Amino acid sequence: MATTLVIIPTYNERENLAAVVARLRAATPDVDVLVVDDNSPDGTGGIADGLAASDPAVFVLHRSGKAGLGRAYVAAFRWGLERGYTRLVEMDADGSHQPEQLSALLAAADAGADVVLGSRWVSGGGVENWPAYREVLSRGGSAYARIVLGLPQRDVTGGYRVLTADALRSIRMEDVHSQGYGFQVDLLFHAQRAGLRIVEVPITFVERRYGESKMTGGIVLEAMLRVTLWGIGALPGRVSRRLSRG
Ligand code: GDD
Ligand code: MN
Repeated sequence: MATTLVIIPTYNERENLAAVVARLRAATPDVDVLVVDDNSPDGTGGIADGLAASDPAVFVLHRSGKAGLGRAYVAAFRWGLERGYTRLVEMDADGSHQPEQLSALLAAADAGADVVLGSRWVSGGGVENWPAYREVLSRGGSAYARIVLGLPQRDVTGGYRVLTADALRSIRMEDVHSQGYGFQVDLLFHAQRAGLRIVEVPITFVERRYGESKMTGGIVLEAMLRVTLWGIGALPGRVSRRLSRG
């Protein structure tokens, strides 16, 4: 039997957290939830503690300050692996990743995928209420990373994912250095190179109604620089594979 932990990273998600956890508990009652909060100034950590106190399936990992999405996920994955969960899920706190779509992602894992990507850019997927510039940034970022890194997936930056514990253990997490949202590309690139079975499942990403995105120009720049450097690093291997294929 799979035991599943849904990880929800939070930074200033006071208006969103309780609603998303309630929707998740209703949609998939068998999964546990770990909120990983970076000491949000708006008191999200206290709200998470309240949810945990009233529901034994909800847990909280408090971190000392804002250290970026990537660092929060690495800490949360360790937390989950240490406690023996067999599947770990990434989900945003702001409702953009609809809890009602999780069962479709888990079904793909049941069918044998090591990594399931909730995907906006495959047939049946999409976005709602996203500003045009965000869609351009996301599609452009995905296209750039796919070409530079040789990734076959369509949505390489998304953050609604299922990973098996075995998959996570086979990715050396100490090698996944990205601090910000580039972490998602970083993790996928490692998964692809580890030879894992990666499946995309269409999702509809619904832009948040409350609070603000934490995306910044610095986060985009970090991701672009790292992708470019990894791409250069991977080039000799790609060239020699192509040559040996004739
Ligand atoms: N603990 C922690 N620490 N959580 C964070 C941090 C951080 O430094 N930065 C952001 N978060 C949390 C937010 O509170 C939210 O739950 C989630 O991470 C996503 O942050 P948003 O700021 O809402 O992201 P977005 O909507 O702009 O970006 C979405 O698209 C990106 C590009 O596709 C997300 O799905 C990202 O995961 C994705 O990479
Ligand atoms: Mn968001």
